[in-house]
Amino acid sequence: TVVDPLRISVIGTGYLGATHAVCMAELGFEVIGVDVDPGKIKRLTAGEVPFFEPGLEELLRKNLESGRLSFTTSLADAASAADVHFVCVGTPQHPESNSADMRYVDAAVSGLIAGGLRPGSLVVGKSTVPAGTAARLAAWLSEQAPGVELAWNPEFLREGFAVDDTLRPDRLVFGVAPGGNAEATLHRVYASVIAAGTPVVTVDYPTAELVKVAANAFLATKISFINAMAEVCEVTGADVTHLSKAISYDTRIGGRFLHAGLGFGGGCLPKDIRAFQARATELGAGQAVAFLAEVDAINLRRRTRTVTLATEALGGDVTGKKVAVLGAAFKPNSDDIRDSPALAVADTLRKAGATVAVYDPAAIPNAQRAYPEIIYADNAVDAATGAHIVLHLTEWTEFRELAPNALTAVVAARTIIDGRNTLNPAQWRAAGWTYHALGRP
Ligand code: UGA
Repeated sequence: TVVDPLRISVIGTGYLGATHAVCMAELGFEVIGVDVDPGKIKRLTAGEVPFFEPGLEELLRKNLESGRLSFTTSLADAASAADVHFVCVGTPQHPESNSADMRYVDAAVSGLIAGGLRPGSLVVGKSTVPAGTAARLAAWLSEQAPGVELAWNPEFLREGFAVDDTLRPDRLVFGVAPGGNAEATLHRVYASVIAAGTPVVTVDYPTAELVKVAANAFLATKISFINAMAEVCEVTGADVTHLSKAISYDTRIGGRFLHAGLGFGGGCLPKDIRAFQARATELGAGQAVAFLAEVDAINLRRRTRTVTLATEALGGDVTGKKVAVLGAAFKPNSDDIRDSPALAVADTLRKAGATVAVYDPAAIPNAQRAYPEIIYADNAVDAATGAHIVLHLTEWTEFRELAPNALTAVVAARTIIDGRNTLNPAQWRAAGWTYHALGRP
């Protein structure tokens, strides 16, 4: 295969950037990944992925060995070494305003400018940003680095499927300014992905920025819709899992992201819907997305409902009771605990006076750093030993396959709350357990 001589830099090596850097090398490019955290760069250089992502480490090692992939803490090296620079840094929620904190994006661009971007090179934003960011950065570049173009190419990968989503995305979105070479350059970068049949939507900057937040807002709304139906199921005696299945046969509705339970968390959906509201309000369109406040509220009420269910099952007072929590990551196949519904519930019960023991197949080290007061167990049986209630809060396959009898002998009381609706109620009840769930009798 002929390797395209384009050289690529990827700024930020978190869940998004590390995956993007590895996948760009896999496509045949010479890639340099940059991060301000020397610990991360050291581990990546040693062939170690600093987070849990199935399949990524093998691909990292393969591409380090090929010599196409390297990592550095020097943004200046990347600025001068590459033709295309992907900005993949975080845009976390601002603690006071709910809007996206742009300091890392701005630092990446100013570092690239200071490092001596070459005329003719392209800066490509991938981070999720408020509408108007690309235009602002393009103006900044044209002043400080004449001849350097900017494009916006939002990323839609899911944690846990990051490699596949990057190499075989549902679509590519290219946000570009009229004229210039950005669109042609992006077609070169993604040539093999496009050749495999991936649709490309080429748009202006604000549309590209909005596609990303609109997609996440829609997904969050779908989850909160079914969780709102779960609330109504709870007061009518209906079963939301059957309701969801029945409406999903209508192909206009579909069944994906219609799984009722403890709701969404993670580093994206919650903060993105809040930042979207903040930005739309600034621009005078707050009313158009006011429903997202309700989406957020429905989502957070599921956490409260789970705490209430547990408290009631424990006789109205959790003080001195032992609670076993299965799951800490915000979703299975991830070690990410950002805005994890499972840990939010665990910590609320701990603060109310319960002794809480958590087990998760991958997220314990991260959970331990963020919630040091919680007790952590090495497996589900250890977590459940002596427990007055078991809460299933992240739906790892390991928990679905757990036989109730594995826990029966060690618990103090056979009560389980299935916060994700993936356990088999009949199986747990047959084993003598009191089984509660969200949105089902
Ligand atoms: C999400 C989007 O799915 C990606 O397309 C997007 O690129 C990414 O955010 C981002 O903006 O970077 P991710 O945060 O990895 O990806 O997680 P999802 O798989 O979307 O799950 C989000 C949350 O929704 C999880 O807590 C999950 O447990 C919950 N969920 C999902 C439900 O409660 N019910 C469902 O039916 C589906």
